[in-house]
Amino acid sequence: MSYLHDDIKLCATIVSDTHIDVKHPVKILPMYILMSALKGAKKSRSDAFITVGDTTSAGTAVNWELVRTCFRKVPDAAGKIILTVGNHDGWNDEDDYPKAQAEYFSAYRDICKREISTSYFSEVINGCYFIFIGTDSDSGCQAAIGDTQMQWFRAEMEKAGQTGKPVFVFCHQSLNGRHGLPRTWDRNEKPDRPFDEGGVGERSEEIAEILKKYKNVFYFSGHSHMGLSGEDMLKTEGYSTFETEDGVTLINLPSLSCGNHHGELQGLGIGLQLEIYDTKVVLRPKNYISGKWIKKLSIKDGKPYYEAELI
Ligand SMILES: [Fe+2]
Repeated sequence: MSYLHDDIKLCATIVSDTHIDVKHPVKILPMYILMSALKGAKKSRSDAFITVGDTTSAGTAVNWELVRTCFRKVPDAAGKIILTVGNHDGWNDEDDYPKAQAEYFSAYRDICKREISTSYFSEVINGCYFIFIGTDSDSGCQAAIGDTQMQWFRAEMEKAGQTGKPVFVFCHQSLNGRHGLPRTWDRNEKPDRPFDEGGVGERSEEIAEILKKYKNVFYFSGHSHMGLSGEDMLKTEGYSTFETEDGVTLINLPSLSCGNHHGELQGLGIGLQLEIYDTKVVLRPKNYISGKWIKKLSIKDGKPYYEAELI
């Protein structure tokens, strides 16, 4: 167990896009990496283990059964397990979104030991709000956020803002045009991609406006499978895994076990450890296969991690 500072208040392990898939040519590979991350979470005594969507490559019963197996083999990995919904989790062979959603809810009940009945929900952990939003229906690669969810999100952010503590928002898709999108949406760059491709979709600016109303907000996404990038990439290419905008920190996680592109580090096994202190929030990239901190990238101010002083 190692934390950057003393007196930590909350530790969470965050990974994204594990893409567990019975059709994977080596199906044990993403399972092995997910289990490695779970072991890492356990070792660091994480209060939460969070995936930022695309836990499966298709939300079928057989795929979720493989996910259940991973969590069964590494029990009690963290105080709370939380699975954000991703676009792939809503897909299946029959093009039947309600069925895929039911499989997600069922797996959530078994793995997270709690009931959910919508793709949006929140958890308060050690006094901090963790707010999860996601698509209400099958809307391709983007997220269809309905009016009911948007109203709920506004109200939940207001409650979270009143705590005076940092607020953590999770959505599989990043805001449109951030983290190098739409350029970084795919391995192959296409100059004529629409601006919103690879992003959350039509309510992006509405979400951004809500995030910006509050202090100390951190918005986590995955989805684009962009590798890990730091401040050098920000200088040379204008995008990074870690971006800030009007006081909001935007974090885009690499795919844990499905391969990445466009980043300074594109390997498998990369996730983040979130450490919350009274006056600061720290995000530390870690390779969960080797179990080692990633130290070769300059993330912020020349340091291999992102540290934000709370205001
Ligand atoms: Fe994905």
